Amino acid sequence: MCGIVGYLGENSALPALIDGLRRLEYRGYDSSGIALRLGSDIQSVKAVGKIKALEEKIFGKDVKSPQSPFAKWGNYNKSPQLQYPRGCLGIAHTRWATHGEPSEANAHPHSDCLGKIWIAHNGIIENYKELKEKLEEKGHKFKSETDTEVIAHLIEDFYPHTNTNDNVSVGAGKSGGDLAGSLRKALKLLEGAYGIVLIHEDYPDKIMAAKMGSPLAIGLGDTETIIASDVSAIITRAKQVIYLDDGEVAEISKNDLRIFNIDNVKIEKKIEEIDWDMGEAEKKGFPHFMLKEIFEQPESIMNSIRGRVMEREGKAKLGGFDSVSKKLRDINRIIITACGTAMHAGLVGEYMLEEYAGIPTEVEYASEFRYRRPIIDKNTALLAISQSGETADTLAAIREAKEKNALTLGIVNVVGSSIAREIDAGAYNHIGPEISVASTKAFTSQVAIMALITVYLGRQRRMSLITGERIIKELLLIPEKIKDILGQNNEIKKIAEKYVNAENFFYLGRKYNYPTALEGALKLKEISYIHAEGIPSGEMKHGSIAMIDENFPSVFICPRDSVYEKNISNMEEIKSRGGRVIAVATEGDERIKEMADDIIYIPKTLEMLTPILATAPLQLFAYHVSALKGLDVDKPRNLAKSVTVE
Ligand code: AGP
Ligand code: GLU
Repeated sequence: MCGIVGYLGENSALPALIDGLRRLEYRGYDSSGIALRLGSDIQSVKAVGKIKALEEKIFGKDVKSPQSPFAKWGNYNKSPQLQYPRGCLGIAHTRWATHGEPSEANAHPHSDCLGKIWIAHNGIIENYKELKEKLEEKGHKFKSETDTEVIAHLIEDFYPHTNTNDNVSVGAGKSGGDLAGSLRKALKLLEGAYGIVLIHEDYPDKIMAAKMGSPLAIGLGDTETIIASDVSAIITRAKQVIYLDDGEVAEISKNDLRIFNIDNVKIEKKIEEIDWDMGEAEKKGFPHFMLKEIFEQPESIMNSIRGRVMEREGKAKLGGFDSVSKKLRDINRIIITACGTAMHAGLVGEYMLEEYAGIPTEVEYASEFRYRRPIIDKNTALLAISQSGETADTLAAIREAKEKNALTLGIVNVVGSSIAREIDAGAYNHIGPEISVASTKAFTSQVAIMALITVYLGRQRRMSLITGERIIKELLLIPEKIKDILGQNNEIKKIAEKYVNAENFFYLGRKYNYPTALEGALKLKEISYIHAEGIPSGEMKHGSIAMIDENFPSVFICPRDSVYEKNISNMEEIKSRGGRVIAVATEGDERIKEMADDIIYIPKTLEMLTPILATAPLQLFAYHVSALKGLDVDKPRNLAKSVTVE
């Protein structure tokens, strides 16, 4: 997984590419690179680490530094137009390595033997080894350990006369070779997933793109075209976009845009409007995107609910679901599939759907679902949950379920993403871009939408008007209640200060808040690198409690709900073994206050909605621990925002 940007236009490509990379950095950030057309050459710069390292290499303190081939063009910060009069075409990549360690040699863009073809790739070429061997036998010289590089050499192999030793190109741009045809031939040999952008030295005015599995969108500005892995890298420059579909190839030149399939059949595509506003993708004064996104939750949850409730009828209105409403009435089993945080939202959904809609539901990690033999019949629906809409495991699970004729449903945030386009029906989160790798506002919105789906399906079945009404009424109060919790930010920070040096944590909860425990632990782990485990409170005594001592704190999620007393007993078990307890409890709960070492209060709500409220302080706690440790909150090590590889 990674971020790709391509630029062709009347302005300097370099600032556009760097800006695009910065916006896509959340997708991967172990190394990055740019290939830029300068005069008649294509030159590249690559760096290990975050985009900042690349920028320093290009525009660093010593701009004339001989290591940067761009240096001779001066410092673009001072006068971009002047310094880059012809650098109007280029591609860039921020990488999350799958094949080959993060190094300069393995950083994209990659080129062919002659350094004429340059490509940036997102995905995995599964048969790269066998292709590489064949190409090496033919004399191709590889410079990296990546799977990606085979694509450049394959195209070179099909491209007439470029793979010669005399280094004289008689290729298409100059004498009628066929770059698009060579690309298509190469693509036919690839197995796996790719989103590719490509430029060729012989074509000063052309950029090619191809998609299979990994996302690519083409932004159409007034004087420029930007191709990127997602629209966050496009919105500053274009409001109109074309989403490429699998098997499509785009040939973009200054005055022309052609999209065709792998057999060269032209495809007419719809131009769509991007409705995200720019401000939504900026930090708005917060030190980190994660904190900004946590604080957006009152509004983002409201955006997920708005227009979707019929208070008086006690019903939910989900436009996408209406299109398959007849089929939904016949559903007698639901499998929810997702990964990570989205999967935790799915677990909350399981409790909701079984308790309130009476539909047998199970939740499965998407990465597991596809490799067993799930029993699915025509009355089973698969519900996929994904913020990015690009998670490869989740997408694969959807395809597997479709193969078996299941109705596929989804909760997705990114409009036009692969999952959004592949499912039969779905509900968008409408929460704007989530940039921080640690998912926060997506989770609370996913749970809120699960509640809406529960009402929607429940009311089709046996749920009474009164129950429907009650859930909706409580749901509408959630945004204000979250605001209250966020008001305790300073107190939560103080608690974080107290526990910042702990090396292990348990997160404990029961029933609806078992998933909350899992989510709290995941948040802490992924951004603070502290070991944390989410466990059902009642399960702890079957083994894990052996770990407890004064240095091993537990976070208890114990609102006043149907399992309150049980949770209290479990808390006693921890306390009597010397363990410290941070409790998340219902406002005014004096009993827990006496037992716990530290307490965070959440307002009262329906039991099924407590995970939304209880998760917010856990997000803040994890945030502060990470920030106090001085870690990179928004881009934790080893991770990437959307995991588009299996
Ligand atoms: C959440 O904090 C994680 N970074 C991760 O678990 C994430 O939720 C998971 O990869 C699923 O992503 P998706 O929602 O985009 O499909
Ligand atoms: N497989 C390619 C690599 O390892 C691309 C990975 C990505 O999508 O970031 O370089």
